[in-house]
Formats: sequence, C-alpha cells, structure tokens
Amino acid sequence: MAESITVTDNRTGEVVEIPIVDGGVSADEFRKLLPGIWFYDPSFMTTALAASSITYLDGDAGILRYRGYPIEQLAESSTYLEVAYLLIHGELPTAEQLEAWTDEIRYHTYVHENFRKRFVDGFHYDAHPMGMLVSGIAALSTFYPEAKRIADPEIRHKQIIRLIAKVPTIAALSHRYSVGMPFVYPDNSLSFPENFLSMMWKVAEPRYEPDPVLARALDVLFILHADHEQNCGTLAMRTVGSSHADPYSAAAAAAAALYGPRHGGANEAVLRMLTEIGSIDNVPAFIESVKAGHGRLQGFGHRVYKNYDPRAKIIKRTADEVFTVTGKNPLLDVALKLEEVALSDEYFTSRKLYPNVDFYSGIIYQAMGFPTEMFTVLFAIPRVAGWLAHWQEMIDQDAKIYRPRQVWTGSEERPYTPLANRS
Ligand code: CMC
Repeated sequence: MAESITVTDNRTGEVVEIPIVDGGVSADEFRKLLPGIWFYDPSFMTTALAASSITYLDGDAGILRYRGYPIEQLAESSTYLEVAYLLIHGELPTAEQLEAWTDEIRYHTYVHENFRKRFVDGFHYDAHPMGMLVSGIAALSTFYPEAKRIADPEIRHKQIIRLIAKVPTIAALSHRYSVGMPFVYPDNSLSFPENFLSMMWKVAEPRYEPDPVLARALDVLFILHADHEQNCGTLAMRTVGSSHADPYSAAAAAAAALYGPRHGGANEAVLRMLTEIGSIDNVPAFIESVKAGHGRLQGFGHRVYKNYDPRAKIIKRTADEVFTVTGKNPLLDVALKLEEVALSDEYFTSRKLYPNVDFYSGIIYQAMGFPTEMFTVLFAIPRVAGWLAHWQEMIDQDAKIYRPRQVWTGSEERPYTPLANRS
C-alpha cells in the first residue's frame, strides 16, 4: 500500500500524488496543482504549523514527551531548569553544562531599577498581574535593543537566558506591587523555585527558608507547564517571531495569548468555578447547567487530548504532597466530585472531555497561598522556556513570515455611496 494520497482537479483532470511524510502531507504539492485555491481550515483544526522536534503529544493515548523524554519521568526526576535546558538545546545537560546554565540564569535574575520605577510603579493599584507581566515582558525589549539582532546566535542565547531568568522576578514584582509590599530582590543562593517563593513571600526575615516540599511541588508544576507543542501562545510566539521582531516582543504576544480563559487563564476560571459551586451537594446541578449550555466546565476538555491529560494525573499526586504541608484545600472535594460526576456522564464521555492541566493546578496554588490572579502568571513563568525553544527552532529553520490566506466571502466591488444618499 502506497504511503501517499492522490488529488484530482475535477475541472482539468490533473492529478497529483503526494507522499505522506511523518504523518503529514505537504501543502506545497497542492499549491502546484491548485494555484489560487486555499485550504479553508479555521482555527487550524487540520493544519500542521511546523515540523518540530521539541514536544511530542499523542492526545488519544494521553502521551506527552519533551525531546523524547516522557513527562512522567521528567516530573519524577528532573528540575525545571534542567528541562528548560533540554527544551532549548535538545539534549539533557551534563553536570558541567547544567551548572553553567544555572549560573547564567542566576546571574540574570535582576531587572533594571528603571523597569520597576517607571513601568511597575506606573500601573494602577489593582492591575491584574498577568496584564503587568505581558506589558513587562514587552518593556524588556526597550532595555535590550541588541535583541533585535536575532541572526546572531550569541545574542539570541543571551536573550533566552534573560527571559527565563527575569520573568519570575517580574511575576513576583507584579504581585508585591498589587498588595503594597516592597519588592524583594532575587536571592541567588536559592534554587529557581525557591528564589521565586522568596521574592513572593519574604517579609522581614534575613533569609527566606522555603519549605522543601512546596519548592519541589512548584518545580514539578513548572516542568509540567514548560511546553505543550503548537498551542495558542506558542503560535503567537512563532507568528510574531516570524516577522523577526525581538524575542521580548514575541514573548509578550505569547503571554497575551496565554492570558485568555480558554488557554492559561483557565486555572483562574477553575478556581472561581469551584468557589462558586461551594459544596459537593451543588455539583450535580452545576453539571446539569453546563449540559444545558450555561457555561463550560472549566479545566475540562482540550483541543488535542481526547483522553486524560497526563499532566493532570501528575498534578493530582503533587496536590496530595502539598496538602501534607498546607492542609487540604476544601475545594479539592468539590473538584473530585465534579470529575467523578462528569466522567460518568454521557455528555462528557461522548465528547471525550477529561480534566486538563488546569483542573487541579489552581487548587494547589491556592493551598500554597497564591492569589487567584497569579495562577496564569504561574503558568507563564515556565512556559517561557517552551516559547523560546519554538522561537529558536523557527529561526534555525529559516521560516518565512507567517502569512495565511483567506476565503473571501465579502461583497463584490461596489461604488462608494455619499453619506447623504444612504438610507
Ligand atoms: N465544558 C462543557 N462542554 C465542553 C467543554 C467544557 N469544558 N469543552 C468542550 N465542550 C463541548 C463543546 O460545547 C462542544 O460540544 P458540541 O459538539 O455539542 O458543540 C464539544 O465539547 C467540542 O468543543 P470545542 O469548543 O469544539 O472544542 P475545542 O477543541 O475548540 O476547545 C477548549 C478546546 C480547551 C477551548 C475547550 O475544551 C474549553 O473551552 N475548555 C474549558 C477551558 C479550559 O479548561 N481550557 C484549558 C485548556 S488546557 C491548558 C492550555 O493548554 O492552555
């Protein structure tokens, strides 16, 4: 059996045979046969955006791998910084490489004082931290004008380090500003997650001592969120990057995409939903209202996963570890009941709607003391590594500027009507 498809243009009888390579068929061949006829694929339901070797996802089987390594093994044994290295470089680091990478990131955790004074202090007192993060990432480009020179691998590397290192600092800054607490400078003697916890929570103690269980749980959550193939935010990163804008501007666009409640904003939406439901007694009625079309079950469903999201399984375990330190979040019972009722309901099973990564993450973040507004920010911190890996891959592939076509459904040419003649 040939590993190919045959397309016939019925208007002319012309035929083209297109090989199936790596599970895809090249649109180039269609273009040769059908110039001026476009694929109509709203929301990219059937379009492979790129050939990529970063993250492998099999939504039916519930498989997620970074550079070939199963997410379960990385969550068990790795750290976020090691995973970030893996995503960017394609291989796990040697001990020496990891030390150099960690040192480089530590060295770049500070932000310019004017960034805080002029940008952060300029926000309204109740600004959403995700809005501050999006703007803050964009503002970084004005501090590093050399970032525009994206063809230079050394300059690219420097911006990758800066972005991974500074985003947690900006994230913590946004929180401290919103609660009126003074900014805590990075403590470079701490690990990546510990330092973030210190910048978030340190008050008057000379040195913040993070709880090791909570620091590890945060690192696991960072690993799970580090990349997820061609999602909406990554598409934004690649799209803006394809115009050869600097990586800060591209990452700001990616963060803006993540902000939406269908994407990274879902963890915040889940918490609001669970709080609104309030008790397990209200779960059946809530499920019925979702089925009747009154809103969605937040944290359920995924464009690609038609099975249990493997990240959600790991998060459920992480939640148990966190609760040994923080005490159980009472919303966990509501979430477990929701999952149980939904997974035994034909509406959800027939549509293959399962819990996704956001269903349980918010419960952990809340138990750890993070305000709800910070949840999407917590998603963005590690996703920066994934965005940058895709950005770099696209540049290495010398991708053309992203510029899709459209199927025109508007009116034919018509003459301008003067205002006085319009009814
Ligand atoms: N609750 C109730 N019904 C749902 C849900 C849900 N959460 N998700 C999908 N459906 C239904 C939808 O109404 C539709 O039914 P019908 O065929 O009768 O019209 C069917 O399932 C297919 O939905 P869709 O909107 O065509 O699916 P999609 O692939 O375009 O959307 C999604 C994927 C994630 C946007 C959607 O499932 C959703 O809105 N989920 C809730 C928000 C959420 O949890 N987002 C986080 C995603 S994971 C983190 C990340 O990657 O950012």
